[in-house]
Amino acid sequence: MNTVRSMSHHPHSLYPEQLELIHYPHPVLRKRAAEVEVFDDALRDFCARLFECMVEHKGIGLAAPQVSVSKRIFITDHLRREEGKSDRRVWINPRLEFPVGQTSYEEGCLSFPAIYAKVERHNRFDIVAFNEWGAEQRISLDVEAGDFLGIVVQHELDHLDGKVFVDHLTPAQITLIRRRLKELEQAFKKATGKAGAVLRR
Ligand code: NI
Repeated sequence: MNTVRSMSHHPHSLYPEQLELIHYPHPVLRKRAAEVEVFDDALRDFCARLFECMVEHKGIGLAAPQVSVSKRIFITDHLRREEGKSDRRVWINPRLEFPVGQTSYEEGCLSFPAIYAKVERHNRFDIVAFNEWGAEQRISLDVEAGDFLGIVVQHELDHLDGKVFVDHLTPAQITLIRRRLKELEQAFKKATGKAGAVLRR
C-alpha cells in the first residue's frame, strides 16, 4: 500500500498524520461514517492531505473511509480527467435530495484496483453539503446534461454509508469480476491474517 506523509503534525487530531489508502475487503469500507461536528484547521489539513492522496493514486474522488477515517467527508476533482484542468471540491455531511431518473456510467474505485463496471445511478438530483469552512451549499446536477460530477458524488456518497460500487452490480456483472475480487481478498488475508468484510453474493 502507498502512503502520504503530512508536512504538519497534529498529535491530538481526530485525523491520522499519515493517510493510507485501504482496499476491499477492509471492514472500515462497510461502516456508516460519523457526521463532522468541528470545522477547524485539523479538518482543513486533513482535506488537503486527502487531495494529495487522491492525486498520488490518480483518482477523481476520494472518501475519508478509504483512508480509514470513518467521517462524512469526501473530495472530488472531476475535471482531472482533462489535461491541465482542475475543479477541487470538498463535501462534508452531504445529503442527496430530489433524485429523478436513471443513468449509468462505467465506474472504478481506488479501493477496488483494476475493477471497472457499469453502475446505475440517479440522473438528476440536488446535493447539499458543507465545505471545509462550514459553509453550506446546494448544487443541482444533471448527468445526462453533462454533469459528470453527478456520477462522482453519488459514488463517493455511497462510501459514507458503508456502500461500495460493486453493491450495485447484477449477478452477471459480479461473475465477470469474481476472480479479481478473490485476488483482493487473498491480498488482504495475507497482509492482515483476517478475512475482512467479504462480499456475500
Ligand atoms: Ni470508491
